[in-house]
Amino acid sequence: MNIKKIRKDFPILNKNKLIYLDSAATSLTPNNVLNKMVEYYKEYRSNINRGMYEISQKATAEYEKARITVQDFINAKHSSEIIVTKNSTEGINIIANGINWNKEDNIITTSLEHHSNYLPWLRIKDQYNIDLKIVNSDNNGNLDINDFENKISKHTKIVSITHLSNVTGKVIPIKEIINIAHDNGAMVMIDGAQSVPHIGIDVNDLNCDFLVFSAHKMCSPTGIGILFIKKELQEEISPLIIGGGAVKWVNNYNYKLLTNTNKFEAGTPPIAQLIGLDKAIKYLKSIGLQNIENHEKALIQKVYNNLSQNKNIELYGGDLKNRIGIISFNIKGVNPHDLALSLNISSNICIRSGFLCAEPLIRNTFNASNGVIRLSTYLYNNERDIDIFLKNISELIN
Ligand code: ALA
Repeated sequence: MNIKKIRKDFPILNKNKLIYLDSAATSLTPNNVLNKMVEYYKEYRSNINRGMYEISQKATAEYEKARITVQDFINAKHSSEIIVTKNSTEGINIIANGINWNKEDNIITTSLEHHSNYLPWLRIKDQYNIDLKIVNSDNNGNLDINDFENKISKHTKIVSITHLSNVTGKVIPIKEIINIAHDNGAMVMIDGAQSVPHIGIDVNDLNCDFLVFSAHKMCSPTGIGILFIKKELQEEISPLIIGGGAVKWVNNYNYKLLTNTNKFEAGTPPIAQLIGLDKAIKYLKSIGLQNIENHEKALIQKVYNNLSQNKNIELYGGDLKNRIGIISFNIKGVNPHDLALSLNISSNICIRSGFLCAEPLIRNTFNASNGVIRLSTYLYNNERDIDIFLKNISELIN
């Protein structure tokens, strides 16, 4: 990977001299994605699926072309399985609220999840008086598969689980989870918010039922995410939002929804954003996800080697086995928000601190009552970013 060349693609890095180490929260956007969106606004800005005129036809064609790019990227069988949402959170909410719940159903999630994969299920638990089971992990955030096997039953309606922890960067053995869940007749939702941008996913090989991810974490604009719903299941999931574009016919007191994809995309969707995502996927593919993963692993190894030698630092997540691009830690006795602020003031470092929208894991499993500080990498980070970060940490401790 030619990092020097890659960095030139990201105008924000060159303009602001940022040391951006917060890509797990959201990623930066390269010029070609920005230019593609500007092209839409300048040349064929119009609504999709609603105009016979030329620019609307062009916008619709670009939008649907992007859907096929996403389909190929995650290896879905049908483009109609790709639903455009606002973000991963919205996708999880669509599924949680769209299932036809029965009293005896239960839901399984894990102690590793970020809030977006807890709160929708907590609400369903309360609304329908349904049992919610949380699979435990050990002190390093390794999922306890035995606990999962003990908790799953024929009453489990859905298992909703992250593919990659946003706190530790640990890859979860989801294939094993999916097989066990399907043996018990449960559906499986994969939260790919952190995995899809960094290691990709193959929904056909995994045979998962639902997948969500946030395009804004993979070099695309904000305000766009993807929900994959297996074709066979689309009929039984009710949409969360209905309105224009989602109906077959309407009269004064009745309506009939369209089937499949359209019923989940009511209202004007994020058109420029999906067209931008098309470019972002092509950009990431041209660099190669495996190259990106290797690059991130090398950067994280350097951080780990340094921080793990320091007695003043508490690292979370154990060793680096099966971990990608993320490291969370604390300097003992220092509030993580103070540390993040100080790093920003001294060297323009952008890094996330606090509970990382994963309070149960950070508070209960890692026992970090003020939260943690999290460094997360992507294709545009270089060794200099890491060196400056580590130098700052060492100076602050001194
Ligand atoms: N879940 C996102 C993060 O980890 C927002 O920062």
